[in-house]
Amino acid sequence: MEFSIKALSPEAAKTGCVVLGFHSGKELTPAAKRVDQAARGALRKALGDVSGKTGSTLLLRGLPGVAAERVLLVGLGERKEFGENAYRDAVRAAANALRELGAKDAALFLVDTKVGTRPVSWNLRHAVLGTREAFYRFEQLKTRKKTSAPALSHVVLPLSPSAQLASALAEARATADGAALARTLGNLPANICTPGYLADEAKKLARQYKLQVEVLERRDMEKLGMGALLSVARASHQPPKLIVLRYSGGAKGRRPLALVGKGITFDTGGISLKPAGEMDEMKFDMSGAASVLGALHALAGMRAPVNVVGVIPTCENMPGGSASRPGDVVTTLSGQTVEILNTDAEGRLILCDALTYAARFQPEAVLDIATLTGACVVALGHVATGLFANDQKLADEVRAAADEAWDRVWQMPLWEDYQEQLRSNFADFANIGGRPAGSITAACFLARFAREMRWAHLDIAGTAWKSGREKGSTGRPVPLLVRFALRHAGRK
Ligand code: BES
Ligand code: MN
Ligand code: ZN
Repeated sequence: MEFSIKALSPEAAKTGCVVLGFHSGKELTPAAKRVDQAARGALRKALGDVSGKTGSTLLLRGLPGVAAERVLLVGLGERKEFGENAYRDAVRAAANALRELGAKDAALFLVDTKVGTRPVSWNLRHAVLGTREAFYRFEQLKTRKKTSAPALSHVVLPLSPSAQLASALAEARATADGAALARTLGNLPANICTPGYLADEAKKLARQYKLQVEVLERRDMEKLGMGALLSVARASHQPPKLIVLRYSGGAKGRRPLALVGKGITFDTGGISLKPAGEMDEMKFDMSGAASVLGALHALAGMRAPVNVVGVIPTCENMPGGSASRPGDVVTTLSGQTVEILNTDAEGRLILCDALTYAARFQPEAVLDIATLTGACVVALGHVATGLFANDQKLADEVRAAADEAWDRVWQMPLWEDYQEQLRSNFADFANIGGRPAGSITAACFLARFAREMRWAHLDIAGTAWKSGREKGSTGRPVPLLVRFALRHAGRK
């Protein structure tokens, strides 16, 4: 799907479909007004008594005085309530309608509707991301595909071209590619998307973009002393991997940004076995890893001026005769010992060794991304990603990037007061802290391995995938990571 920026007038645009917005109470946007004038009021008349509810659509054909064969009207809701969510819903509704129509090309005049205080580049980015998201399908494992090729091949964003908009478009395209990669990796089942598969995927990216890649094998981890990571991988027939993927697009010698992604390709819980219901969703437990690969794909694809190192610990959490038992004590790469009181709290065990390993790259900042706790879903639901940080400035930067990307986060406390919940009689500390504040004690565990770094942790347990009818990976938080890296590079 191609996107281009071109100044167009809605009545004269030679395109398969002109997409226009209108608010409740038949309040037309400027572009819709122009079309209505050219059509001598036929548009307003056709609206009849439709509500203009956000995301509602109405298709008109052969409007007099209008060059395009079809005009798609999209409801934007009450003008006073119009904001980011309404804009994104309208884009999604327009994209879905264009898909139903089988339109080959369209001009999205929705981009000229002001969204609060957002610059027009914001509209542009979210028009591209929303459209690409709506057209995403995961059908590679179905023998009979519903869609052949995507019908919509060209979308014009009718704005006057500028260098700033061109770079916003490049960012949006690359971000959409990265998010699609993350979604596909997340959606692939655990019998296909194994740790080895993720390593191959990283090598593929490395070849495509000339990135540096290194994959540590079990024996490398043994030599290094990654006792925590290895304890999780013990009972699986799939060998664990630690993937290191580097993109150096920034100034030589500038310290990199490190992204550490949880890559549990399937989480059964291990000996602390999970209940059967919805266990299939634990194939998504590598979504943090997928988001790191997606973000690197995006940043390399747009040749962003940043240095990023992705560190991905990946393995499978299985029960079995050689599995870790509750009560086992392991020595982490940092030297600290951990009592594994629950083998289902495995994410922190692979991440702690990966964080210690990431320190060797002397990162300016480290972000870890993990489907870490069910407790985070209880706290924040499926809207906000949980944010934790040992540096408030970093937390503020992440929050600002998340807000721009509309891939939102909510900060949770990381106070020392919670640390005592991790106390152990047999090791330096335990891997669980009891029921209260489960996502905070998980973050507190990780904090013990990031003391010397500027570090933030994103708990994406509630935001990385959807359940139910719409079950599938969301590609979050790729948009946030890309935006953060770009802001970090000084390109605001
Ligand atoms: N991958 C899960 C977290 C998870 C559970 C994410 C459900 C999304 C939905 C993680 O490894 C896990 O099992 N966490 C445990 C921790 C507990 C044993 C302290 C949890 O949240 O129950
Ligand atoms: Mn688990
Ligand atoms: Zn897990």
